[in-house]
Amino acid sequence: MNEISRRKMLVAGGTLGALCLASPANARSLWTWSPSGSLAGSGTGTDPNWVWDDEADQLLASVIDRGDVPRVNQALRTWTRNDQPLPDSLPADVRDFMQRARQLPAWADQRKLDAAAQFNRTKGIYVGVLYGLGSGLMSTAIPKEARAVYYSQGGADMKDRVAKTAKLGYDVGDLDAYQPQGSMIVTAVKTRMVHAAVRHLLPKSPGWSGTNGGQKIPISLADMMVTWHSLPTFVMRKMLEWGVRVNSTDSAAYLHVWQVTAHMLGVRDEYIPATWAAANAQSKQLLDPALGPTREGVALANDLLDIVAEVDGGLTRPMIAGFSRYTVGDQIGNWIGLSREPFWETLVRTAWPKLVAFREHLMPLPLIPDAAWALEEVIRRFVLLFFSEGRRISIEIPDSNRPS
Ligand code: HEM
Repeated sequence: MNEISRRKMLVAGGTLGALCLASPANARSLWTWSPSGSLAGSGTGTDPNWVWDDEADQLLASVIDRGDVPRVNQALRTWTRNDQPLPDSLPADVRDFMQRARQLPAWADQRKLDAAAQFNRTKGIYVGVLYGLGSGLMSTAIPKEARAVYYSQGGADMKDRVAKTAKLGYDVGDLDAYQPQGSMIVTAVKTRMVHAAVRHLLPKSPGWSGTNGGQKIPISLADMMVTWHSLPTFVMRKMLEWGVRVNSTDSAAYLHVWQVTAHMLGVRDEYIPATWAAANAQSKQLLDPALGPTREGVALANDLLDIVAEVDGGLTRPMIAGFSRYTVGDQIGNWIGLSREPFWETLVRTAWPKLVAFREHLMPLPLIPDAAWALEEVIRRFVLLFFSEGRRISIEIPDSNRPS
């Protein structure tokens, strides 16, 4: 570990020590969110902390135990378009499952999905930077997710891992996402299978078992919705906070594309919020208490920022750290060990709202300070990198954990 990352660990370790006892991460709140606020409109009300994805989980456990992962991965590499028939070389049980899993829900509305794609395009810079630096970094402050990612096979190669996460952001925002020629159905079904594999593998990881706070099987549907809220719920909240103009059609469409995505990832409709109001209420109950500091989260956040900094040899890293802190806030920033960058933090705080106002046609050009354009340039480059990394990735089912 180099000097800087060791120092960051120590700084964040101090925060960690101070917060460990009070950390809300291990607290289990009672599940009171009513299924009447869900897409299903009704349901059993069962606490999703105790619900996983039975059908996929049983199938992937069997695929792993009988040594079929390489064969399935080889076949899956050739399946890339939503409208493509499933490869013949897949084992019959995997094929049957995928045939069902690839069907869009009856409530999917193509018009809304198209509107969401347009929205992602017109607001691409905000959505891109918020996925990458907002949701991406926030995920490292979700202890259960940070530990699952750290101790799983993908945790050993963060560059690959970040690129794969970018793929979902890219695919979900793509103009063709859920069109026949798009690839979001493919990405979602493969990811659902990856999560099912992780549920079978991680309980055998000594690193994960020693830090999981008593959870026996990872990635419950409550965990899924925690992460879901760190994506669309957080992104929409930040865009509104920043003063980005979002009309009601766009807002409904953006929610819809993520509702469909949750369903395709195996979340039951009774846990998927039907409205933004229901989403915000569920996020308060699920995401807020799930955030906290961990050693693994600090390491992952550090890796993530290293990858971003690679593009220009680290020159813009302080600016990216300043922007990230502005986006996720001081508390999360401290938890994940973001460096303090007083100069850049001040610049971002003053320049970014002006850039947004200019882009949203609420402020004329002469009022934008020159320094703001340097920030704009870095963010634009980051968004480009984020989405291009996502373009050429194939999601693979793991058959082992991170080597310890
Ligand atoms: C894998 C997205 C929730 C842990 C993946 C992948 C994607 C993804 C695209 C495949 C890329 C890869 O292999 O790295 C999502 C989305 C979620 C979600 C959109 C919710 C809306 C979660 C949660 C956890 C989690 C809640 C843990 C608590 C993992 C792990 C992997 C993975 C451990 C596999 C890494 C490996 O290859 O070993 N996820 N995820 N994910 N996800 Fe998620």
